[in-house]
Amino acid sequence: MPPSLHTPRLLLTPLQLGDAANIQRQFPVWEVVRYLDNHVPWPYPADGAERWVRDFVLPAMAEGRHWEWAIRLRSAPQSLIGCIGLMDQPDNHRGFWLAPAWQGQGYMSEACAVVTRYWFETLDREVLRVPKAVANLGSRRVSQREGMRLIGEADGEFVCGTLKRELWELRREDWRKHS
Ligand SMILES: CC(C)(COP(=O)(O)OP(=O)(O)OC[C@H]1O[C@@H](n2cnc3c(N)ncnc32)[C@H](O)[C@@H]1OP(=O)(O)O)[C@@H](O)C(=O)NCCC(=O)NCCS
Repeated sequence: MPPSLHTPRLLLTPLQLGDAANIQRQFPVWEVVRYLDNHVPWPYPADGAERWVRDFVLPAMAEGRHWEWAIRLRSAPQSLIGCIGLMDQPDNHRGFWLAPAWQGQGYMSEACAVVTRYWFETLDREVLRVPKAVANLGSRRVSQREGMRLIGEADGEFVCGTLKRELWELRREDWRKHS
């Protein structure tokens, strides 16, 4: 299990099965899912979050190939406001979402700062690669702010349909210079 991580405003706790009900209440809305990869089932089933946590995330965390945190406000830590995870998957190393009420306030940039540090310093990786829809302006901006480079573009299948998908990359030496 990864440790809890802290930022000025956030507490990131390793994901547990007990978080599933909270995810189920907040995740299945269009503003969250539209630009996610279309492996996310839509309409979202009533047990979607429980299955994702229990059958996908927790086994992968136990095998040391996935690190997922619930994002909580330090001022109200009883409820999560989103999730952020790191994955050992080809060209797909980090994913995140925030419930709509919490978007656009700098929270994901703050969460990314500590999670990206965990990738490079604790997990000792050389490169972080993330795919995202060109139309996902908020997510692209998070990447740009971190100093990522655009290294490819192709069509991608998202919950909202087929869109241009970009691949962004951050190398450890560039992250060190930038952070
Ligand atoms: C993408 C997402 C995680 C961004 O998180 P966030 O906390 O809202 O992002 P921040 O507040 O840290 O904003 C970072 C930058 O993006 C900008 N931004 C955020 N949302 C934006 C939007 N919808 N359109 C344009 N710019 C946006 C902010 O203004 C900020 O820019 P700045 O650095 O120039 O000030 C959030 O919108 C989200 O959860 N979206 C749904 C799930 C998703 O798409 N996940 C990513 C899949 S690749």
